[in-house]
Formats: sequence, C-alpha cells, structure tokens
Amino acid sequence: MALAEFSPSSTKTRLIPSQLSSKSTTTHLYSGYRLPVLRSRRLKSAKVFCSVAPNQVQAPAVAPTPTNKANKAECFGVFCVTYDLRAEETTKSWKSLINIAVSGAAGMISNHLLFKLASGEVFGQDQPIALKLLGSERSFQALEGVAMELEDSLYPLLREVSIGIDPYEVFQDVEWALLIGAKPRGPGMERADLLDINGQIFAEQGKALNAVASRNVKVIVVGNPCNTNALICLKNAPNIPAKNFHALTRLDENRAKCQLALKAGVFYDKVSNVTIWGNHSTTQVPDFLNARINGVPAKEVIKDPKWLQEEFTERVQKRGGVLIQKWGRSSAASTAVSIVDAMRSLVTPTPEGDWFSTGVYTNGNPYGIAEDIIFSMPCRSKGDGDYELAKDVIFDDFLRSRIKRTEAELLAEKRCVGHLTGEGNAYCDLPGDTMLPGEQ
Ligand code: LMR
Repeated sequence: MALAEFSPSSTKTRLIPSQLSSKSTTTHLYSGYRLPVLRSRRLKSAKVFCSVAPNQVQAPAVAPTPTNKANKAECFGVFCVTYDLRAEETTKSWKSLINIAVSGAAGMISNHLLFKLASGEVFGQDQPIALKLLGSERSFQALEGVAMELEDSLYPLLREVSIGIDPYEVFQDVEWALLIGAKPRGPGMERADLLDINGQIFAEQGKALNAVASRNVKVIVVGNPCNTNALICLKNAPNIPAKNFHALTRLDENRAKCQLALKAGVFYDKVSNVTIWGNHSTTQVPDFLNARINGVPAKEVIKDPKWLQEEFTERVQKRGGVLIQKWGRSSAASTAVSIVDAMRSLVTPTPEGDWFSTGVYTNGNPYGIAEDIIFSMPCRSKGDGDYELAKDVIFDDFLRSRIKRTEAELLAEKRCVGHLTGEGNAYCDLPGDTMLPGEQ
C-alpha cells in the first residue's frame, strides 16, 4: 500500500516506497492541506495538497498510523479523505504524472489556463498532471484561492497542486514551465526599465530551472517582453537545451487567422500556414504571403494587397492594445487558449502541410535571420515536444523588409539586457517607435 508522508523538514508529501506492493491500481490517496502550519514555518513554498497517481499506488490504503494522524488533522476538506478509484478507472491505463509549473499563477491568464490544463485539454483524458503554482509574497493569498478553486473543481486528472514563491522549490522536476508572471509597464516607466525589471525575474527563473527542473523541460515564456525574457531565461539555463525555450506568439497567429477569415468570409478553420515572424510587439510580421485559405494562397483569395499590407498587418500588431482599451486590462482568456494551442502543437503531430508559429532560439535557421535571439518562425512538430523549422516558405521584398525591422528591434532588446545574458554591459538603443502589443 501507499501512504502519503509529511516530512517535518520539508513541505513535501511523498510515498513511502517500502509500503508499495507490486500489484493493482485500485486506490489512490489524497493527503493534506498544510498551509497554516507551513506558512509560519516556511512561507516560500508550500505543498498544498497532493494525491498519488494511480499508477504509483499498488493496494488499498490502510487507516492512518499515529505518525500520519497528526498530519491528517491539518489536511483540508476533500483532500483529507481516501479516494477509491471508480470501477471504470481500475481498468484504465494511466500515463505517468506530468509536472507543470505555472508562474503568475494568481493572475488572470492563469485563472483560465489552469482549469484548461486540469481538464485534460492539452494532454488528453488519460494523462494525470501535477500543477506547481508560482506566485509572489503579495499574491500568496490569491494563490491559495486558486488552489481552493482547483480543489472544488474535482478534476479527476489533477493529482497534485502545490503553491510557492520560491522558483527553486516550485520548479523541482517540472517537465513544462509556463512563465506568465511579469510586471506590467507602469506609468512613466521606460521600455528599457521594463526589460530590466522583468529580465531580472526571468534570469532568476532560468537559474532555478537550470538547477532543479527536468533536463528536458519545455519552457513557454508569456510575460512581456516575452521574446527577450525567453532569451534571458535560456542564457541563465545552460544545462537545458536552448531549443526547449519558446516565446508565446501563438496568440498573434490566432489573431491573424481570425482577421484573414473575416476578410475572406470563411470560418477560421479554413485558414492555415499563418506565420508570425519576429517579436511579440508592434513590429511583429503577420505573414499573408505564405498564408492559405482553403489551401489556396491568401493573396489569391483576398485580392486587396493594400488591405493585407496595411490594415491586416496593423490590426494584428495592435490587437492586444485595442483589447486593453476595451477591457481595461490585457487579454487573458484568449492568451490562455493560445498557450494551450502552443502546447498542443508540440505534443501532437502538425497536420500535413501546415505549421504553427512560436518564438524560438535562432541557431542555424534557413531564413537568414540573425542568430542568437528568440524569433517567431514557422515550425512543425512530430508531437514529441520537439519541433523543426518549416522549409517550404517563400519571401518577397515586403516580407523581407518587415522581418528586418522586427529583427533589428530584437537585436536592440538583446543589447539592452547584456547584463542579464552574461554578455557584459548593457547598451540600450531601442527604436522609439516600437511597443508591446498592449502599449498604444
Ligand atoms: C497581448 O498581446 O494581448 C498582450 O501581450 C498585450 C500586453 O501588452 O499585455
């Protein structure tokens, strides 16, 4: 049988291996919620609640021993009781648990994302997950609130939730790190200041991932300026393959698909091969040259080059800002959807002939884009978490010149964070006319 044991020196809940027998997956055990005690002992990270993945549990749980009885008194609601697998679950073949870290976990994007992850939208209905939520001291109570809502949702696939404010604890063994938390640009704050403040967060998180995450962790950076934050994170995590770092541009791709569909009068599932090139900023390049509608080049369907070059391009580049004006805050639900899309694109084979956009490390790319930056490009995946760059891409003068502009911006951003990437002194000569999509 398996017991969950609380170790007095740490906040971890773990199985006692000697108590695992060799057969059957009939029971799993949820164990306790320890925040009141843990916060006084150690605020930095707290295992909130945990269950044991069925494939780890070998026999029915017994009544609590005196050792775990004390712990039982601290546990929270439903996670204190022993849960017997339902009849159909005993015959189900579960995959082994995937550990997913989410930073900015008490924020609006996460408030959508976590529930999507827990419901199996990314990894499917036979894939149990553990969510490791990273917040700040300031957001700790909200983090508890998120954990409680996850608890109340009774997701069968959600086997563990832990919360903390120390990335070295939260990132332990994670296979995915979704880095959402970042400071928004405040009034009067220079873009260089924003790069510096957020860069420091991502340098720290890169170091933590390097120290404690799975060696093949996939990292998706969402916090802005996400391309350069991803570069900083990568440079501070030399033991993790650079190829594993992504900056989220899938939201921009989705926005571009929607605009092309609207203009062509088709549903958006008819739009494919849309690339976002470059930076997640107003210099990004939504590529209509390679885009297809019903398999036909978009330019042959939308015979309005002026609209494509001007209105379409600008609408996608500035969509985030328009949304902020409407909502009074950044996009959240559609960003969460696009994170799910971005993850799913890496864990399922790309449909034949199509590709998806993601900001990745430039290291021997076939498009002539400067090396050693994070640049959004067209990628394909076999569904193994890895990707390759699409080769069947065409360029014209307009596309090339726009790519050069977004490349120049990313190179300038990189110079501006030299002190955080190990390249020495920073030198900030950012182009004044470029902004995050949310800045208008
Ligand atoms: C978005 O594209 O919606 C966001 O990145 C906007 C922002 O600056 O928060």
